[in-house]
Amino acid sequence: MTDVSTDPMRGISTLDELPAMLGRSNGRLDGVSVLVRVDYNVPLNDDGTISDDLRVRASVPTLTWLAERGATMRVVSHLGRPNGVDPKLSLTPAWEALWAIAPQLKASIETRDNLRFDKREDANDPTLVDELCEGMDAYVNEAFAFCHRPTASIMGPPTRMPAVAGRLVESEVRSLGAMLHNPARPFVAVLGGAKVADKLGVVEAVVGNCDSVIVGGGMAYTFLAAQGRAIGQSLFDPSKLDACAKLLASNTNIILPTDIVLADGSITTGDIADDTEGLDIGPESRERFAQVIAGAKTVFWNGPMGKFENPAFAAGTIAMAQALASSGAMTIVGGGDSAAAVAEFGFADQISHVSTGGGASLELLEFGDLPGLRALRTAGVDNV
Ligand code: 3PG
Repeated sequence: MTDVSTDPMRGISTLDELPAMLGRSNGRLDGVSVLVRVDYNVPLNDDGTISDDLRVRASVPTLTWLAERGATMRVVSHLGRPNGVDPKLSLTPAWEALWAIAPQLKASIETRDNLRFDKREDANDPTLVDELCEGMDAYVNEAFAFCHRPTASIMGPPTRMPAVAGRLVESEVRSLGAMLHNPARPFVAVLGGAKVADKLGVVEAVVGNCDSVIVGGGMAYTFLAAQGRAIGQSLFDPSKLDACAKLLASNTNIILPTDIVLADGSITTGDIADDTEGLDIGPESRERFAQVIAGAKTVFWNGPMGKFENPAFAAGTIAMAQALASSGAMTIVGGGDSAAAVAEFGFADQISHVSTGGGASLELLEFGDLPGLRALRTAGVDNV
């Protein structure tokens, strides 16, 4: 189970501490060069334009803070998973999005293209760390959504120079950490998405700490199969059947859908026929899940309830977004599809914290810590 006894921000210096760490008692950073790692791994449309610039916008407060204090910056990121250099995954649109949002930053920032065009990034190769750190005086990790990846730009720089968490990393880790440590109760996790294999560890980690764990979306069908329900052609991972059965046998707080919307739009509360599949949760489940959320004081949500990109199967996901938005609870939406859904359906302003990190927020929940946070914690002090 996740170790919730220790604060994931422990021992990590923050942006406000940087001037003092560099001996700048006046709080200024004139003449200081800062390497900033951001996560501009933004979703792209078919024509290469950015469909959601949340991650770019989220980095602006830290970049502005540094620029206003006189620092110059080398800002680096990856985008997608290119195999070598791939012009379709150039970071140029992301830099253009940044200049459009904050044109004043252009004068203080040196950019590089996609770090993953260089295989040394994912290999955590020290020679890339040398290049990234050359001429730099300090490192700011502002890539919360990438802190679960132990790559060169995340792990290396804190071993070379004073290193701090940027504003986004700090706020993400504090929000998620507070939820893990000391959640107002009832604490409800809502987990969905396609692959049960991706989230089973999270269910196992949170089930002991949550009052209820609602499971919907494609991952629910392996749980339903473990209960003996026929699931037809629905998403199914036979290798996880036993683990789901064990979780259900030892935890009574896992809540599964009771009715399912099938491919032809009909609804079943029973077995799913061999020739069809479940693609959304039905009205009875939507209402029940919404009731559990309405009674909660803390809610974490990651993963859609159905194939929400098709409006015929979006009702379950919309209902969850609405239930979180109208609850009086502390609500955290954990990145990826669920963050896109709350934005698309117009609820983002009513959520306490929309995380920029899908995988990172889930790994923080599952393991209570992240490699990028460990790097800041263990290395920073020695370099001051
Ligand atoms: C994300 O979008 O979750 C991060 O940028 C990590 O990307 P990756 O899964 O391609 O490493």
